[in-house]
Amino acid sequence: VANPYIRNFCIIAHIDHGKSTLADRMLQGTGAMDDRTAQDQKLDSMDIERERGITIKAAAVSVEHTWNGQTYELNFIDTPGHVDFHYEVSRALAACEGACLIVDATQGVEAQTVANLYKAVDADLELIPVINKIDLPSAEPERRAMQVEDVLGLPAEDCILTSAKSGQGVAELLDAICERFPPPEGEIEAPLQALIFDAKYDDYRGVIVYFRVMNGRLKKGDRILFMGKKRTHQVTELGKFKPDMEPNADPFEAGDVGYMIAGIKTLEDVNIGDTITLDNHRAATALPGYEEPQPMVYCDFYPSGDTMFDDLREAIGKLKVNDASFTYEPSSSEALGSGFRCGFLGMLHMDIIQERLEREGHVSLVQTAPTVTYEVQLTANKDGVQEVIQITNPAELPDMSRVKSIREPMVAAEVITPTTSIGDIMKLCENRRGVYRGQRFLSEDRQILEYELPLAEIIYDFFDKLKSITSGYGTVDYRVTGFQAGELVKMDILVNGSPVEALSLIVHRSKAESRGRHLLKKLKEQIDRHLFEIPLQAAIGGKIIGRETIKSVGKNVTAKCYGGDVSRKRKLLEKQKKGKDRMKRIGTVDIPQGAFMAVLDTG
Ligand code: GTP
Repeated sequence: VANPYIRNFCIIAHIDHGKSTLADRMLQGTGAMDDRTAQDQKLDSMDIERERGITIKAAAVSVEHTWNGQTYELNFIDTPGHVDFHYEVSRALAACEGACLIVDATQGVEAQTVANLYKAVDADLELIPVINKIDLPSAEPERRAMQVEDVLGLPAEDCILTSAKSGQGVAELLDAICERFPPPEGEIEAPLQALIFDAKYDDYRGVIVYFRVMNGRLKKGDRILFMGKKRTHQVTELGKFKPDMEPNADPFEAGDVGYMIAGIKTLEDVNIGDTITLDNHRAATALPGYEEPQPMVYCDFYPSGDTMFDDLREAIGKLKVNDASFTYEPSSSEALGSGFRCGFLGMLHMDIIQERLEREGHVSLVQTAPTVTYEVQLTANKDGVQEVIQITNPAELPDMSRVKSIREPMVAAEVITPTTSIGDIMKLCENRRGVYRGQRFLSEDRQILEYELPLAEIIYDFFDKLKSITSGYGTVDYRVTGFQAGELVKMDILVNGSPVEALSLIVHRSKAESRGRHLLKKLKEQIDRHLFEIPLQAAIGGKIIGRETIKSVGKNVTAKCYGGDVSRKRKLLEKQKKGKDRMKRIGTVDIPQGAFMAVLDTG
């Protein structure tokens, strides 16, 4: 059987409750990292992660800790906290026997604390609740421990109190991990089954696969098969992160966690969640639970300024090699020329890809407004078949005479809010076509509200609105539950008399008029005055529902600068008004980046 002195666990938490800091502190506590390196937040290695202070990709590190005179190998896996990266959390959990659930002693239980707990319970993990940031003056560890018991059902006395800042409680936590988490199970003599729970691309070494051996044995030189991908590779190096990569000549056995290098050139060749087996001694079945992560949000990228289509193609291709989680395909628009339609796990993911393209690929982009996927049921064709097509772009919607119904993705959302904001949050959800599903107490002053909402209504600015209503104290978690038919219509936007496909959108009929008028106002703010008058119109099925006019530049009038006041909007918009090169000429009208994002402003 597997080595009884291994503990595989992960750290889960709501964003900013201190996962990465605590993980670093544990590296220090076990001597795997000195104090100076700790400054750099070893586990958050990507630049953008460090700048934004968030964990994007999970990391796995092996350390040693002695408890009761016995040396244990602790393999810990840092997981992303943001809702976009739920799938990676699930994969990381599947590689573990235990989870440390971190709760901020000043904030208490939040939406992702609850969501992550459910996932850990689903994965049958043993849990250690950790109350962190106890050094802060406003920390209320005892009260938070009671909340952990009341809300999460974990005994208050099981909570370990830590300060990832001072290091207090970290040694005790390491002891508890050895004592309370179970050793790995698994058969060493069985055929190899190893779970791929993450993969990274390295410029020098190619793809580095993170795996956990569930059954069997794996060694350097083995010919392996990825059961889902149906591809074989030869293992050229096996090792562990300590926290830097250290090759290891011994075979890896059931219970072990490590990395492998096997001549894999691109991340597209690796599916997170896939099972590795030996090519000449295959496991009968793959490990359960692999599913391809589905893109949730789509937008187009077009080259602008000095960037040519080929530059963009090269930049996207390069990025795809080291981030397989977004999708892309060529797209072309009459107005915007040739570009790419890309799919993302969520809005944050989209921001990150856009930023990496510009920063690492040195391209200048115009980006269209993000949309969700719609399922369109067509009316019966001549053979009586009612075809269903998926569209990720309003421009792809067939003529409405051929459309029987349009279905949109729905989510189950849990909002955690101070009791004082409940009325306003309910108003917000209802205004977003939300259906009330329930309400639970979290504590005397906070509640959990459950709503079913269309994904399209919450991806744009729901989070910002929630934060402003609750003065920053509200949090939300959601998961996509399926598609549902709605009264949806396509709205066309005409600039100077011609429809601009890249500005069209799919909206709910009940909101079409107000949304259209608001959008035209925003477009008017964004588009600079020209030498001629520019009419802006919104239309549904050929019927004009709103109009604005951008006056021509008169003799005494100074042209208004485009860009408008977007600084208070999402950070995304802010970045995008940076250069005049982020502009597209459509017909005779120059349309700046901000105009394409005007649709995000729902008023
Ligand atoms: P994501 O990785 O983005 O999900 O966040 P995280 O949970 O890893 O949080 P992170 O470790 O980045 O910590 C968030 C903030 O809290 C940082 O500014 C830390 O310096 C701070 N922080 C973490 N632990 C402690 C603590 O014990 N005490 C104090 N005072 N601050 C802490």
